[in-house]
Amino acid sequence: MCGIFGYVGKKEAPAILIDGLKALEYRGYDSAGLYVAGAGLVKAVGQVKNLEAKLTPDFKGTVGIAHTRWATHGVPTEVNAHPHTDCEGKIYLAHNGIIENYGELKAELIGKGHKFASATDSEVVAHLLEDFVKAGSTFSEALTKTLAMIRGTYGLAIVNTSEPDRLYVARKGSPIVLGIGEGENFLASDPSAIVPHTKKVLYLNDGEWAILKTDSYQLFSLAGEEIKREPTVIEWSVEETKKGGYDHFMLKEIMEGDNVIKNSFRGRLLEDSLEIKLDELKEVEEKLKGIKRIIITSCGTALYSGMVGEYMLEEFAKIPVEIEYASEFRYRSPIVEAGTMVMAITQSGETADTLAAIREAKRQGALIVSIVNTVGSTIARESDAVIYNQIGPEIGVASTKAFISQVTIFSLLTLYLAKLRGVASDEETKKMIKEIVALPEKIKSILERREEIKEVATKYAGFTDFLFMGRKYTFPIAFEGALKLKEISYVHAEGYGAGEMKHGPIAMIDPNFPTVALCLSDSVYEKMISNVEEIKARSGKVLAIATVGNETLKTLADDIIYVPETVEFLESIIAVIPLQLFAYYIGIGKGYDVDKPRNLAKSVTVE
Ligand code: F6R
Repeated sequence: MCGIFGYVGKKEAPAILIDGLKALEYRGYDSAGLYVAGAGLVKAVGQVKNLEAKLTPDFKGTVGIAHTRWATHGVPTEVNAHPHTDCEGKIYLAHNGIIENYGELKAELIGKGHKFASATDSEVVAHLLEDFVKAGSTFSEALTKTLAMIRGTYGLAIVNTSEPDRLYVARKGSPIVLGIGEGENFLASDPSAIVPHTKKVLYLNDGEWAILKTDSYQLFSLAGEEIKREPTVIEWSVEETKKGGYDHFMLKEIMEGDNVIKNSFRGRLLEDSLEIKLDELKEVEEKLKGIKRIIITSCGTALYSGMVGEYMLEEFAKIPVEIEYASEFRYRSPIVEAGTMVMAITQSGETADTLAAIREAKRQGALIVSIVNTVGSTIARESDAVIYNQIGPEIGVASTKAFISQVTIFSLLTLYLAKLRGVASDEETKKMIKEIVALPEKIKSILERREEIKEVATKYAGFTDFLFMGRKYTFPIAFEGALKLKEISYVHAEGYGAGEMKHGPIAMIDPNFPTVALCLSDSVYEKMISNVEEIKARSGKVLAIATVGNETLKTLADDIIYVPETVEFLESIIAVIPLQLFAYYIGIGKGYDVDKPRNLAKSVTVE
């Protein structure tokens, strides 16, 4: 995710800004830039050290803002890197988040004669501010008016060159923290960049903005009323702040679950009109109307999200879908007929097999529409259309937040295609949309009970083999649960469709081979209960994942982790969270480095 850092004080700002950006590098980024009042604007593609190399000795000043960009709108280039400015170069700003209505605002501003330099959503904020200032507003008034107009999320750091002694800063949805020093003040998107300078911090709440000067800070509400709040002292080390206070990135990324879902549907799901809007598919919309078949191809966790997507798309958008291991697809002489859309699902956007699979599909004339987390990655560039996850980089090697985001995007895509193809009932679509909107709170309620899941994991930590089983929408979750456990705890685990049990795996069942059974209250629940009975009859231990309120399993299963109720269509997202936590707690219980499991790489760019 992008990083923001700002400094106002008496020391030379450029070096402090560069150090601030370096402290934020771990978040991942593709370009960087800074603006120092009186000195100017410098940007560079790639690493912060490229930016640092461009600073000359005479580049001096004591007030400035800096940014590392992780592209969401527009490819990683210098022009798209932040800070952005207005037409006259009087206002400079760095922005984290997404301005959902930037298209409309930009069109309006262009109509008024504004000239835009970049393809970003962020630049619109600089021009809006300029517009209000030119119409006679003070800068503070211009800021509150601008904030009232933009929809979406923002963490903003702004320099108004007419008031070069201060920084303006605002927050909604994207974190901003102020660092209160002695004769100097800081701002950052993440406290890890501030902690080396001061431990006195002040977190901005959503809907608040502030003015930061060398010796003072002032907080305001959107209505312009001043807010009095004292800083707090953080005790975290620099390393802990990067992980948001969690012990591992993996846990931090699991715990982000509710926000991950919100960010994935942000700007794409219109809550008021209960509609799905996927602007990124506009250019290929005509082709999408005519598609006869979809092939989803990817690897590992991303493949399992594709399996959920297959079920969703067939059931609700009524399109035939096949799911293909990218590593097989690329070599097995696949036939891609006219009217086929091929989808790559990938967090990194660089997975070698997935890339080779879409190249093969493209060679045969397929339309390539991908779900990618990393903007500007090779797979994103080589696809005809891309739906980005909008969730920031995933740092833990084991994929967790990317999975739930991928499935969320499949749910949006399904509803979008169902409508486009005229097979959606309005009533059903609205019901699904309401359920998607309700997901973040439900996920939060599971995350809040993580200590309970930890206790269960501790109970099962001594076993050396596990079976995970599910059916229909939890079938892929059985694979994913087993994969997570294997990856980070090095425990043997197999994922199976519960219907396959009698065809072999049941022979393995004994008191030392526990089964994690996904028994959610859905259309295949009774079948799952029969499978659990069969396992119990063979003295197998059962840990059930069940819908809250289920009493039957209390007498059948050895242990139960309850999850909230949702529609079957979305249950895979709810079901996977306890399995991610289960794997995490078993892994750390064994003392392993769960963020960097042995033999694994975050981006598999070789075969
Ligand atoms: C599992 C995991 C891998 C990836 C797979 C695909 O936790 O991380 O299985 O899901 O290597 O990677 P991407 O999504 O980058 O294509």
